[in-house]
Amino acid sequence: MSAIILDGKAIAADIMADLKEEAARLKSQGCYPQLVVILVGEDPASHVYVGRKEKGCAEIGIKSQTIMMDAGIREEDLLKQLQDLNQRPDVHGILVQLPLPRHISTDKILTAIDPKKDVDGFHPVNRGKLMAGESCLLPCTPAGVQEILKRSGINPEGKHVVVVGRSMIVGMPFAVMMMQKKPWANATVTLCHTGTRDLVSYTKTADILVVAAGRPKTITAEMVMPGAVVIDVGTNRVDAPEATRGYRLTGDVDFETVRHIAGAITPVPGGVGPMTIVMLLKNTLQAAEASISQ
Ligand code: GUN
Repeated sequence: MSAIILDGKAIAADIMADLKEEAARLKSQGCYPQLVVILVGEDPASHVYVGRKEKGCAEIGIKSQTIMMDAGIREEDLLKQLQDLNQRPDVHGILVQLPLPRHISTDKILTAIDPKKDVDGFHPVNRGKLMAGESCLLPCTPAGVQEILKRSGINPEGKHVVVVGRSMIVGMPFAVMMMQKKPWANATVTLCHTGTRDLVSYTKTADILVVAAGRPKTITAEMVMPGAVVIDVGTNRVDAPEATRGYRLTGDVDFETVRHIAGAITPVPGGVGPMTIVMLLKNTLQAAEASISQ
């Protein structure tokens, strides 16, 4: 058996066309959506992500600006920058690329962003709203995973969804989304993490297995139920001397073996990654729309 490959890149391209129309509609109403990204320091992966965000904005007609800050910047200078951006009516979305240098408190910074402009959905107000089942700006990666399921006709309703990884960015919010009594959710959810004993006993019973552990080969073939849907959120750089860049990207799932067991699987790259960017653009349009309709 060979799994259906869930092509996140193609799904993302479809959504981009819709978002382009939405951006044009907002502009016709006099609102030019704008996203500001703050990038602190020189982390190469962060620079790649931010470049993709800028490209996505340009493609659909969202104004974007990236503010680069030195790794040694003081926390209060970053807070001041955020206060200025919060005040600006022409800025609808603000994103601070993570990780931040260690001397800066991530919690403090994320809490300083106006929740209405928090297109990452990381502000405690948005996290609280998500927990309460209220509408809010959803974190982009979990929203992207749900959208892949939706557009592939895979309904989690009544299924056993097993999430591996409890990060604030992916695992925890995705688990919360999946357990809600809403369309394309309403699943029975198990959240596994580094404290889980006998991981395989849970992953083996997953109808839908979502892996966001940040470690290559966290999931191998014998850990997957035949026919299961496997969503790989990992993006790990592994040394590859033969590659021009000296590394290649790999997920958290051992794709080559798991693809023969699973019913459907997302590849890395080309699975969840492109969806994350698209959901960020969607959130920016949602924030812009809310700013003119309040
Ligand atoms: N770093 C890795 N993923 C993310 C993300 O979704 N948002 C931000 N701001 N930084 C990240």
